[in-house]
Amino acid sequence: MAEIVIRNTNERISGEENVRQFLNSQEVVYEHWNMDKLPQELQEQFSLSDDDKKRILDIFDEEIRDLAARRGYKIWDVITLSESTPNLEELLQKFEEVHTHTEDEIRAIVGGKGIFIIKGAEDVGYFNVELEPGDVISVPENTPHFFTLMDNKQIVAVRLFIEANGWIATPVPNPGL
Ligand SMILES: [Fe+2]
Repeated sequence: MAEIVIRNTNERISGEENVRQFLNSQEVVYEHWNMDKLPQELQEQFSLSDDDKKRILDIFDEEIRDLAARRGYKIWDVITLSESTPNLEELLQKFEEVHTHTEDEIRAIVGGKGIFIIKGAEDVGYFNVELEPGDVISVPENTPHFFTLMDNKQIVAVRLFIEANGWIATPVPNPGL
């Protein structure tokens, strides 16, 4: 279950209903997939073959197509990051720059953990969304944000896109983080 930390006040929001209510108030989509569907050998497995990735997409095909039908996504894939990812530190450095996209950034966490840092409404400022398997989150288009891993430095996520180039990152100068 996701948890929120408001960065200005250190206030932590937990509990499904509170988290959902807060994220909805910031126009962030927040849903869940049932991770019990994932066979044991694919749980907490961070070096995935192309076949493993395809299996994950097949297992969650219904959830993916449901999201796609509701929100217009056309293409999807699986990404994994872990300490065995070449150039992980370099990649993370790039990820950790505040940026925007012209389409929303939706991720379904299938393994590991990650954090989205998102710019909320004026009275809220930036907040962290700590994600775990089963959490599905969408950062709204044109909203400053960045992503990073947690201490275990491992994640598997399904990404969905409307257009292949919709995910191009535009850096935010003076993000006020
Ligand atoms: Fe992004």
